[in-house]
Amino acid sequence: MSNIKPHGGVLINRVAEGAEREKLLGEAAGLQSIVINTWTISDLDLIGVGAFSPLTGFMNEADYKSVVERMRLADGTVWSIPITLAVEEKLAAGLSVGQRAALVGEDGVTYGLIDIESIYKADQKLEAVNVFKTDDLEHPGVQKLFSRPSTYIGGAVTVLNRPKPDRFEEYYFVPAETRRMFAEKGWRTVVGFQTRNPVHRAHEYIQKSAMEIVDALFLNPLVGETKSDDVPAAVRMKSYVALLENYYPADRVFLGVFPAAMRYAGPREAIFHAIVRKNYGCTHFIVGRDHAGVGDYYGTYEAQDLLRTFTQEELGITPLFFEHSFFCKKCGNMASSKTCPHGKEDHVALSGTKVRAMLRDGICPPPEFSRPEVAKILIEGMAEHYQL
Ligand code: ADX
Repeated sequence: MSNIKPHGGVLINRVAEGAEREKLLGEAAGLQSIVINTWTISDLDLIGVGAFSPLTGFMNEADYKSVVERMRLADGTVWSIPITLAVEEKLAAGLSVGQRAALVGEDGVTYGLIDIESIYKADQKLEAVNVFKTDDLEHPGVQKLFSRPSTYIGGAVTVLNRPKPDRFEEYYFVPAETRRMFAEKGWRTVVGFQTRNPVHRAHEYIQKSAMEIVDALFLNPLVGETKSDDVPAAVRMKSYVALLENYYPADRVFLGVFPAAMRYAGPREAIFHAIVRKNYGCTHFIVGRDHAGVGDYYGTYEAQDLLRTFTQEELGITPLFFEHSFFCKKCGNMASSKTCPHGKEDHVALSGTKVRAMLRDGICPPPEFSRPEVAKILIEGMAEHYQL
């Protein structure tokens, strides 16, 4: 049975239930409230359910600085992405350390509480340059970062209401559940796969290559906020279901969503993605080419190189690295530069932008690129999305 330890050793649970929750909801009504957007709600929830173990709340100044500067929490545990609560300076001025505040969504729902430990000014420029390796506002992650106030509040949180998925509810699992299910299925080794895209043949190839050496695949698509030209999560979910039904052995795959926002932080996000999948119970994690990258900000294998700088003991999950994969017409199968001697002219490789344009125009990408069942769903879904 997979009994991989969560990051930091203990699976965090900060979700209040039953009478305790009722009591805290009553208390929250009388507290100063901090309005949080959907991105922060998803971070709050992921902290609450333990996906971000060992975090118990939004980062205090010491952890934030340490993560920005050296990719570790203040106690030395590896952590690469700041998880922070940004508030308007005016609001922060009225808050104090030691105070408990309510975290309320724009919809008026009280999602949780924070026990304020730290109120600090973030150096967002340093954060951008260290985390994203750029302060270019064209970068979607940097743009998002600079759109937030630069006063951050840190402290332990308690979740009182979990955000409700509007679709595909059956694919939402908390880490305690995935861990239990992997164990029940008798899987000793499970490889996690992060994606913010439809699963094309190259993704399928690296997943199945990994499946040859582990017991099962946890297909864990990110369905939180993504940039506007990424394929919408609802369309992707339909395509994953169709793909699994037609091409994967049902007893060796598990589909569950990762309701986090995409940061596009490339190498640093790859570390974060691996650690979080460990919390969900994965023993292995796939990192292919330009993992979590965008534009030309990161080198093709930079995420892999960064992961290699940490020891197996520090990460606690085994990354599986894959080269750029494609269909080779001469080989007559999927391959990578590690396994195929032929030139680019024999490879079927399409850029994400090109594929999105084809799908929008109702053109099916070739079967060497995408399974027809997947392409069909994407064309229909995109047409609906763009109301063509
Ligand atoms: S990501 O932003 O979530 O990383 P994407 O969904 O495209 O983007 O990628 C999911 C995973 O598949 C990542 O680990 C990525 O490196 C890998 N990947 C995507 N396309 C290829 C490819 N053609 N060859 C090898 N690995 C790939």
